[in-house]
Amino acid sequence: MTAPDTILQAQGLTKEFLGFLAVKDVNLSVKRGSIHALIGPNGAGKTTVFNLLTKFLTPSSGTIRFDGVDVTREQPAAVARRGLVRSFQISATFPHLTVLENIRVALQRRAGLATQFWRSDKVLRQLDARARELIADFKLDIYTDTPAVDLSYGRKRALEIATTLALDPTMLLLDEPMAGMGHEDIDRVVELIRKAAVGRTILMVEHNLSVVSNLCDTITVLQRGEIIAEGDYATVSENPRVREAYMGMEEA
Ligand SMILES: Nc1ncnc2c1ncn2[C@@H]1O[C@H](COP(=O)(O)OP(=O)(O)OP(=O)(O)O)[C@@H](O)[C@H]1O
Ligand SMILES: [Mg+2]
Repeated sequence: MTAPDTILQAQGLTKEFLGFLAVKDVNLSVKRGSIHALIGPNGAGKTTVFNLLTKFLTPSSGTIRFDGVDVTREQPAAVARRGLVRSFQISATFPHLTVLENIRVALQRRAGLATQFWRSDKVLRQLDARARELIADFKLDIYTDTPAVDLSYGRKRALEIATTLALDPTMLLLDEPMAGMGHEDIDRVVELIRKAAVGRTILMVEHNLSVVSNLCDTITVLQRGEIIAEGDYATVSENPRVREAYMGMEEA
């Protein structure tokens, strides 16, 4: 039985690629409402775990329960409809649409309006109001009418997260949301994630340990496909196996 405060539970999750075990017997519980980090050296299997959880890959064995339902055999779209959304699934922003248009498209997709051209002006005005709210939350106001392609790297990532949130997911999976960002953008995205976490659960892969320590409640450390440690930052960072894994990575 899954505890009611566990939103996501993977048991015995294993993925084999042609005889190579990329993920080995992973047992992962994510607490509802938490910001949970999945960390580990390059090639540890973090992205593969994300692909398994969102059903982009089929597990070789193991089970996945999300929000009380066994989703192990479900299609990716079905899992997304249940509210488990991965950033890149929808983070494909349209480069030549403006910030407002990109968010509107995401909101329409969620509302299932994309093919219903006959929707009233009133409904469209409501969507616009929600879009502007999201734009304000993400401090993109002055870029409302800027095409996505003209945004800085950090703002583009902010727009991607905003379009993800337009889908109002119950749980959001972010794979290295800060990758390639400078300090200033990192600080901004940390705040955006904190805000996005209100009322939902976040599981994120992140290499920047200062981001992890200041944002995440629970940290799971993966090495060569296996969980080697789990707990809060203080506990995990003192773990000798974790220290060794990270030393190995730095020397690589
Ligand atoms: N489709 C695939 N076929 C074969 N091997 C794969 C496949 N996908 C991943 N792997 C291997 O599985 C291992 C884990 O890869 P994965 O991308 O999950 O690591 P990661 O922890 O996300 O690493 P990084 O920090 O570099 O993003 C790697 O050795 C990788 O080469
Ligand atoms: Mg990865």
